[in-house]
Amino acid sequence: MRIALVGAGRIGAFHAEVLARHPEVDELLVTDADRARAASLADKVGASQVPDLAAAIQAGAGAVVIAAATAAHAELIHTAADAGLPIFCEKPVAIDVAATRAVLGHVASAAVPLQVGFQRRFDPGYLAARDALAGGGLGRLHTLRAVTSDPAPPHPEYVAQSGGQYRDLHIHDFDAIRFVTGREVETVYAVGANIGAEFFAAAGDVDTTAAVLRLDDGALALVTGTRYHAAGYDVRLELSGTGGTLVAGLSERTPVRSAETGIGWPSEPAYTGFLDRFAAAYQAELAAFIDYAQGRIDSPCTGADALAALLISEAAERSRALDRPVRIAEFE
Ligand SMILES: NC(=O)c1ccc[n+]([C@@H]2O[C@H](COP(=O)([O-])OP(=O)(O)OC[C@H]3O[C@@H](n4cnc5c(N)ncnc54)[C@H](O)[C@@H]3O)[C@@H](O)[C@H]2O)c1
Repeated sequence: MRIALVGAGRIGAFHAEVLARHPEVDELLVTDADRARAASLADKVGASQVPDLAAAIQAGAGAVVIAAATAAHAELIHTAADAGLPIFCEKPVAIDVAATRAVLGHVASAAVPLQVGFQRRFDPGYLAARDALAGGGLGRLHTLRAVTSDPAPPHPEYVAQSGGQYRDLHIHDFDAIRFVTGREVETVYAVGANIGAEFFAAAGDVDTTAAVLRLDDGALALVTGTRYHAAGYDVRLELSGTGGTLVAGLSERTPVRSAETGIGWPSEPAYTGFLDRFAAAYQAELAAFIDYAQGRIDSPCTGADALAALLISEAAERSRALDRPVRIAEFE
């Protein structure tokens, strides 16, 4: 197949390498608003550079992978849907709920396949945790702890366009909690703080976050995040039930250590960031997209999943702003 890749930044460059190596990708067409960046990436992976998505469609693209900045997602999905092409889009589908609903309506009426990029659904640890829970090994789940700690902040322009830490970073935790438990979130109480660079506050954002979620079966989740964790990238989901606790993301590369025993993780080099931690998951999600685009499987992460995770993020932002719990039902 011929695939158009829109966006040649941090994640786009990684996806380009994966797509260029995939045995079913005959040609990769790369485009970016920054043409020099697109040209250099195309050159590196043996792809062709095109000026924009319309040109890629004209050149015969059979599917579109969107990895451009968040603010561009909605318009790019509309363009790809109008062309009738299967779409993979990095999270989030759009910057807010209204735009997301409009995009999903258009995708549905165009009847094009859409897969959203929540790669933790392809991570072996999260999958094993999901299986263990479904198999009854943890008893009745009562509490969850989700952690996402970035080693260092993204660049200021990224933060300004990101939609804030709940929509940008914790949206992965929110999707993972839905995916692993199979439950919906009912209520969110979220707080945030600024301990780092001033560009977070200037963008109306925070760099340190905590949120308590109530799930629809009564289980409670605590979600915490930071952009400042220099020891390495720490992404975990702990599931505690009446039968015990299981942790996804705790390995010899997790930058966490014991205060009592002095046993120090990581004994191997710590994860440096999302590309390092989730390399295999990103590869698996794009392989799944190629299967999905050709009708071999259903979408492993739908537009409805993206909307559900965004609604939790929106509730968290509203909760932080109003300093009160927010029910997801407030957005219906
Ligand atoms: N799934 C994940 O783990 C994960 C990780 C990082 C980023 N992301 C998502 O991927 C997207 C890109 O993030 P990034 O870290 O690569 O950002 P980035 O800033 O490194 O790159 C974004 C690129 O998009 C280009 N761009 C902006 N508007 C465009 C447009 N209209 N058309 C074409 N190109 C355009 C920019 O020139 C830039 O090269 C974001 O939506 C982000 O939320 C997902």
